[in-house]
Amino acid sequence: MKDNRRVLQVLLTLLATLQLSKQYCYLMKPLNFTVWDTPNYGLEMKLYEKNNSLSSVTTVRKEVPIPLWHLVLVQHPSRRRANRLEQPRTLYNSSVKTCEFWKYIRRVNAWNNAAKLMLSGAGSNMSLACPLKTGVYTMNVIQIPPDTAILKFMYQPNTIYSIRGTVHSLNPKDGVSRHPICHYEVNATIYKTC
Ligand SMILES: *[C@@H]1O[C@H](CO)[C@@H](O)[C@H](O)[C@H]1NC(C)=O
Ligand SMILES: *[C@@H]1O[C@H](CO)[C@@H](O)[C@H](O)[C@H]1NC(C)=O
Ligand SMILES: *[C@@H]1O[C@H](CO)[C@@H](O)[C@H](O)[C@H]1NC(C)=O
Ligand SMILES: *[C@@H]1O[C@H](CO)[C@@H](O)[C@H](O)[C@H]1NC(C)=O
Ligand SMILES: *[C@@H]1O[C@H](CO)[C@@H](O)[C@H](O)[C@H]1NC(C)=O
Repeated sequence: MKDNRRVLQVLLTLLATLQLSKQYCYLMKPLNFTVWDTPNYGLEMKLYEKNNSLSSVTTVRKEVPIPLWHLVLVQHPSRRRANRLEQPRTLYNSSVKTCEFWKYIRRVNAWNNAAKLMLSGAGSNMSLACPLKTGVYTMNVIQIPPDTAILKFMYQPNTIYSIRGTVHSLNPKDGVSRHPICHYEVNATIYKTC
């Protein structure tokens, strides 16, 4: 019994030490956003400056047979060099059918946890089904968790990042043609906190 207790003690100390060394030094702070939507696919967003998160309410008024998400992540130049206007850098540019999203995000492992948190954490009920049924879908915590390792690699001081998302409706008959039903842009910056 005594030995067990000592083992437990050591384990708890170890855990506490791990917690201490687990200081996450990078924080993504959303700055502002714009939304463009359509009568059949409404999107409302809110930004909470205090806790660096956004929330969204998506109102689907007409079933979408195959929703397709196009996501672009752009890094804006932090300063203008003399005699040369630097172009924004595209860090990510890709499309995925929502019903294939989880299969896909596993390959982009760095974002897996962030995606899980945003889509199903904190009571969110966003649906990735094809077809996407009419209804109201909420995402309550749109936030990049601070332990997302990729923040460290993305970090540049005084730099704005734009996340541009477009939701398309993909034509199920040809599987190729599409039309946009909603678009948003969120600007954010990354802070180093330690
Ligand atoms: C976003 O922020 C920039 C700079 O702070 C500001 O100029 C712009 O008006 C803001 N846009 C929106 C949609 O709030
Ligand atoms: C985001 O930042 C870029 C570059 O500063 C600016 O052109 C764009 O209008 C901003 N978007 C929003 C939604 O504020
Ligand atoms: C993203 O990729 C598409 C085609 O794959 C291209 O037309 C578009 O210009 C790219 N956007 C950016 C911001 O790089
Ligand atoms: C999702 O949650 C919201 C808020 O709780 C609720 O109003 C809505 O009906 C839910 N949607 C679905 C499809 O369950
Ligand atoms: C941020 O604050 C808002 C408003 O107080 C709250 O509704 C939301 O759940 C909070 N988000 C997080 C991630 O704590």
